Amino acid sequence: MPEISKRAVQMPASPIRKLVPFAEAAKRQGRIIYHLNIGQPDIETPETALNAVRNYSSKVVEYSHSAGIESYRKKLAGYYGKYDINVSHNDIIITNGGSEAIMMAMMSCMNPGDEVIIPEPFYANYNGFSCYAGVTVKPVRSFIETGFALPPVSEFEKLITKKTRAILICNPGNPTGYLYSREELESLRDLVLRHDLFLLSDEVYREFCYDKKEYVSVMHLRGIEENVILLDSISKRYSACGARVGAFVSKNRSVMDAAMKFAQARLSPPTFGQVAAEAAIDTPEAYFVSVKNEYVARRDFLVDALNRMAGVFCPRPSGAFYAIARLPIDNADRFCQWLLESFSCRNQTVMLAPATGFYSTPGAGEDEVRIAYVLKIDSLRNAMECLEQALAEYPGRKKGTTHAGAQAGNR
Ligand SMILES: Cc1ncc(COP(=O)(O)O)c(C=O)c1O
Repeated sequence: MPEISKRAVQMPASPIRKLVPFAEAAKRQGRIIYHLNIGQPDIETPETALNAVRNYSSKVVEYSHSAGIESYRKKLAGYYGKYDINVSHNDIIITNGGSEAIMMAMMSCMNPGDEVIIPEPFYANYNGFSCYAGVTVKPVRSFIETGFALPPVSEFEKLITKKTRAILICNPGNPTGYLYSREELESLRDLVLRHDLFLLSDEVYREFCYDKKEYVSVMHLRGIEENVILLDSISKRYSACGARVGAFVSKNRSVMDAAMKFAQARLSPPTFGQVAAEAAIDTPEAYFVSVKNEYVARRDFLVDALNRMAGVFCPRPSGAFYAIARLPIDNADRFCQWLLESFSCRNQTVMLAPATGFYSTPGAGEDEVRIAYVLKIDSLRNAMECLEQALAEYPGRKKGTTHAGAQAGNR
């Protein structure tokens, strides 16, 4: 039998989905599972977007331009303008989700064997995209005690070699929910200039910044316009994950020309998705106000409930819809599997993502889980009751753990 490629062997399986067979088995046994493991919100997609697809009247579903439908790109440039991101439609390539934008960035800016520095914990699929491009990830560690603030620039500098080509950040962050401050981003700007690196910034959670904190995009930083690539998506903005529409945005002409070659090779981003995305730009502001209020209420409920549990610590995130919690457990992978295989609380259980999959340093995040607050508060309440009972029953509970985190969790 012919062998599969070395790259396929290296390609990591999604750590978020690896517990799915256990969840399916639990469902077959009739158990209710609260899915807090993936970023699939239960929020409704705006009617304007759905109606645009319902009213699609062309007789043929054609390919679009490889860079995306021009009228959509022009409207999208207007949308960015509202965030003081000054780009024209020529600075934008529409992609198959944010995922393709990330891949295009790696393919366009890095050679096989090059290195990208990423603060960890990070969105796990960055590993998969790096594997595609033959790029090596160099993690720089951030810590739960600081709420996952940007590590000091000196920590990045320690990792810079001749092979370093780029720094990749996610702001606001998945899985941490951390929102980088202007000072933190300016320190990255200086670093990028000093070492002539690309700065790739995944800002798919831009709409979800809380507590009146300032959202600063890498596109706001002056003096590194040629170094910066913004990676974007409508998946979370309009709760439209299945539309598969993202964007690759840069002022750097050679990067745009390079990315266009990859865009042409895959012909076109999805036509229906773009129709929905173009219409979605007219979504009334009230939609975002209510969605944001809902996420803030869920976050506060979740973080407060977690920090009330003995031995649990969860910093309060300022963005996105994820939180990382430290639990009094021996091993997050074992615990998350045990929740699905062996635990039941009134015939219910919780599905969480072990944080180990978001770190690339071996052994990091072993007592941490990522929780996506993508369910309504009533479901979150049931889920947190289950989790508290599970922590009391779990055979691998750490002994002598106390209720230490509440204060820091209220930062
Ligand atoms: C940080 C981050 N970037 C990119 C993506 C991928 O988004 P898309 O659905 O647009 O491919 C996700 C999806 O969860 C994400 O969390």
